[in-house]
Amino acid sequence: MDKKNKRIALVTGATGGLGTAICKRLAQDGYHVVGNYRNIEKAQKWQEDLSKEGFKVEIVEGDVANYESCGQMIKTIEEKFGPIDILVNNAGITRDRPLHKMTPQEWHEVIATNLDSVFNCAHQVINGMRDRNFGRIINISSVNGQRGQFGQTNYSAAKAGMHGFTKSLAMEVASKGITVNTISPGYIATDMVMAVAENIRNQIISGIPMGRLGGTDEVAYLVSFLASDEANFITGANYAINGGQHVY
Ligand code: CAA
Ligand code: NAP
Repeated sequence: MDKKNKRIALVTGATGGLGTAICKRLAQDGYHVVGNYRNIEKAQKWQEDLSKEGFKVEIVEGDVANYESCGQMIKTIEEKFGPIDILVNNAGITRDRPLHKMTPQEWHEVIATNLDSVFNCAHQVINGMRDRNFGRIINISSVNGQRGQFGQTNYSAAKAGMHGFTKSLAMEVASKGITVNTISPGYIATDMVMAVAENIRNQIISGIPMGRLGGTDEVAYLVSFLASDEANFITGANYAINGGQHVY
């Protein structure tokens, strides 16, 4: 049997724009894909739609901001399908506001969903990956974690924090066949970007050398590459995918 058929990939925030493309791509690659969701009605409809398109994806409930909920989610996956080989920490939110107007709640929600989530999931799969001497952890950060953005002190801090986490964990588990990497997308055409006021969004797009938003498939392709066996020597890296918006 193709080795990949046995590998299980958990994608958090699966029903969102990037999550959907990542799930489809990994399913196409032959992984057993499990998509995490919060809203059962939305997730069931999403799963049905994917199935009609020919993609088989399992779904499992979990709030990535909550450690116990992640533990329950991971236990369910392990009992129903088997151990998690590939973890894509993709779930995320924005609560954009300049710091002087930001509420503590907006700060905490973004840190909990975008950064605590990485700990909540990675911490509960890492021992299994260590035991099996194989693992892929792929953290979806952002160009705005690399360069900052007006109105995003919370989001930029969380996304920069993700990469600090990536670098340290990569060192800890490199000898165990586990790679840990960050992807930092620029502005990609999903609901998250469409929520930015049109005039501001157009201004942002005009600052992207390629003159367009990124496609979700373009990011999914990079996830697929980092998940592959061939990417075995890549760890602790941060891959920019931003149409030239931030070069450094
Ligand atoms: N640089 C400098 N000044 C800016 C500015 C900028 N980029 N944006 C706004 N300002 C100015 C405004 O012109 C305004 O000036 P005046 O007071 O002189 O009029 C002042 O700052 C305050 O602005 P607002 O009162 O409009 O602030 P607000 O409370 O309405 O919040 C905002 C504004 C919602 C943060 C808005 O600026 C915004 O949406 N910015 C874009 C944020 C962004 O890029 N989010 C990305 C979301 S998608 C994502 O996050 C995915 C990813 O990873 C890429
Ligand atoms: P999206 O379409 O809004 O999807 C976000 C997903 O995260 C949704 O499925 C959402 O579930 C889920 N989610 C939010 N909070 C959650 C929680 N507590 N527990 C479980 N799931 C939760 O956004 P996207 O653009 O695909 O973003 C995906 C990731 O890419 C995010 O981490 C984002 O920061 C990052 N990113 C996006 C861009 C971009 O330009 N789009 C650029 C760089 C990085 P619900 O549907 O239930 O809300």
